[in-house]
Amino acid sequence: MRLPDGLPADIDLTRPSAARVYDYFLGGAHNFEVDRRLAEQIAAMTPHLAETMRAGRAFLRRGVRMLVGEGIDQFLDIGSGIPTAGNVHEVAREIDPRVRVVYVDIDPVAVAHSRSILAGDEQTGVVHGDLREPERILAEAQKLGLIDFGRPVGVLLAGVVHFIPDSDDPQEILATLRAATVPGSHLLLSHATHEGQPPEMLDAQRLSARTSTEITLRSRADVTAFFGGFTVVEPGVVHLPLWRPDGPADAVADPQRLGAFGGVGRHDGGAG
Ligand SMILES: C[S@@+](CC[C@H](N)C(=O)[O-])C[C@H]1O[C@@H](n2cnc3c(N)ncnc32)[C@H](O)[C@@H]1O
Repeated sequence: MRLPDGLPADIDLTRPSAARVYDYFLGGAHNFEVDRRLAEQIAAMTPHLAETMRAGRAFLRRGVRMLVGEGIDQFLDIGSGIPTAGNVHEVAREIDPRVRVVYVDIDPVAVAHSRSILAGDEQTGVVHGDLREPERILAEAQKLGLIDFGRPVGVLLAGVVHFIPDSDDPQEILATLRAATVPGSHLLLSHATHEGQPPEMLDAQRLSARTSTEITLRSRADVTAFFGGFTVVEPGVVHLPLWRPDGPADAVADPQRLGAFGGVGRHDGGAG
């Protein structure tokens, strides 16, 4: 198989990658046979999964628009994935052309594609990093000179914290990120859940163990707790299509059946 230009030679193509499986679900072209096979298998077990992923992307777009409206002009997007149409910098710049974005992902394929797509764009940067090492991500982002952590920043954790098992202490990771931001900053977070889901969802979750990153499904209460120290804005931590829908395009018949919650929190300066 021919690898896309610029990809590191040591990529393991015998194992599916979460970023490429996700890309396939969103209709992207940056995936391999091994990813498509796993995606088809997961889709057959959980017919709503592709819809959930599209709802996740739409939630991210609505959230970013809201944050730019609040005056946020710099974003740290961790677990950014393979850049597909309607990426964070594109959505944000429709409102404020000065917006700067640092994209971070653990997946070398996602990073290589991001670098090639964003080459020459001086308001964006790409970091190959692991959310489990937030200090290193913050240092790398700072080195790029695109984010001033003395000013409010939008931290985006869309569909990524469920890749962090409890044993890696996601609360501590969140606390580190919050401590690095000043009041006025915002956190956007979306996360897969088992709540209200059929047993097939749990089977699909077991399949995710075949990628290098297994998924941990969490309750609404668990997801809400990740906002510790942030003030969760209206309408709270809700099923993705219910978060400030733009109109009929965001409506789905039964939002509860989509197995993911999302919300946005504001750093108001209190102790957390
Ligand atoms: C479901 S995709 C979400 C993409 C994008 N944020 C969105 O909402 O459309 C999850 C991404 O998180 C990345 N990821 C998984 N574990 C990670 C980690 N520990 N650190 C950084 N990125 C990670 C995967 O490689 C994948 O690209």
